[in-house]
This record gives sequence, structure tokens and C-alpha cells, in this order.
Amino acid sequence: MTTIAVYPGSFDPITNGHLDVIYRAATMFDRVVVAVAHNIEKVPLFTAAERVALVRAAVHGHQNVTVDEFDGLLVRYARQIGARVLVRGLRAVSDFEYEFQMALVNRRLDRHIETIFLMPKEEYIFLSSRTVKEIAALGGEASQFVPAVVEKALRRKSGVNSARRRRSKRV
Ligand code: PNS
Repeated sequence: MTTIAVYPGSFDPITNGHLDVIYRAATMFDRVVVAVAHNIEKVPLFTAAERVALVRAAVHGHQNVTVDEFDGLLVRYARQIGARVLVRGLRAVSDFEYEFQMALVNRRLDRHIETIFLMPKEEYIFLSSRTVKEIAALGGEASQFVPAVVEKALRRKSGVNSARRRRSKRV
């Protein structure tokens, strides 16, 4: 039987910490589906299509890793694609309460789907998409935290956003 794991998230944008979790999961399961959430509560920097494209580019060449997007309930999506495992990264104690709640809610919604937590390398413990976006927006060097393709996309976005800010100041 093929075991499929879903690694869901906003991936706004994908970071080296996410990649570390993906590659760990890829050694444990036959197939890992990185599932990009379409509608997220936070206002994303990147559109869903952009987030998917960046994840695809970042995991390119990894045979048992595929990328998809989903809308609505995560457990429903997992069931649809025949996955019984949800993978989430756990960085620090601060992640725990939110993750614990999400895992238990998902278990309530579908008792056949199990959540497992993987810890990324210590060097990524502090890393989040939010931090990366902040660094890029303030003109800092994000290349050590994200794949090159994401770094380029961040630079393009910050360029567009600062041009917009300059234009709106002029009017
Ligand atoms: O990267 P994130 O923002 O921590 O990912 C959160 C995500 C997208 C995995 C979570 O919000 C989610 O599963 N959304 C789908 C809606 C859902 O199933 N909600 C019920 C479980 S809390």
C-alpha cells in the first residue's frame, strides 16, 4: 500500500525551513503532497498561483514530492487524495498550542487521519515566512533563508510595492 502524506500550509512564501520538513517527510512516506491553502485568513503577499509556482520550483527534481492546492477543509482534501497522514513542522513551544488545537480538530473531523510533527534543523527554528517577508520588505538579505527562486520573487514584490508607495505619496 502506498502511504501518502500531506504537508499543508500557506507557504507565503516557502522557506528553507519548510523545505527541510518536506525532505524529512519524503524519506518517511512513499509520496508527499505539499498542499498550498488557497484561501487563508491572513492577507497573503503572494497569490495562490504564485505560492504554488514557488513551491513547485523549490521542490523540483524530488521524485516523490508533488505540489497541489486546496480549498476548504484540509481533512476533506486529504481524504480525496487518499492520504491518511498530515505533516506539520514544529519549531518552538510557541507553535505548540496552535498546532495541538489544529491536530485535535482535524482528528475530530476525521478520526482516520493522523497528524505527525517533524522538527526542522535547529538553524531553522527561528525562521518563518513572516520574518522573511519583513526582512525583504526592509531591504535585508533573505537569500540565506529561502531558495533562490523565492528570493528573486521577494525582491520583485518589494520593488513593485515600494514603487506603488512612491506613486501614492506623489498624489
Ligand atoms: O502555514 P499555515 O498558515 O500555518 O497553514 C495553516 C493551514 C492552511 C494548514 C490551516 O489553516 C488549514 O488547514 N486550513 C484549511 C481549513 C481547515 O481545514 N480548517 C480546520 C482545521 S483548523
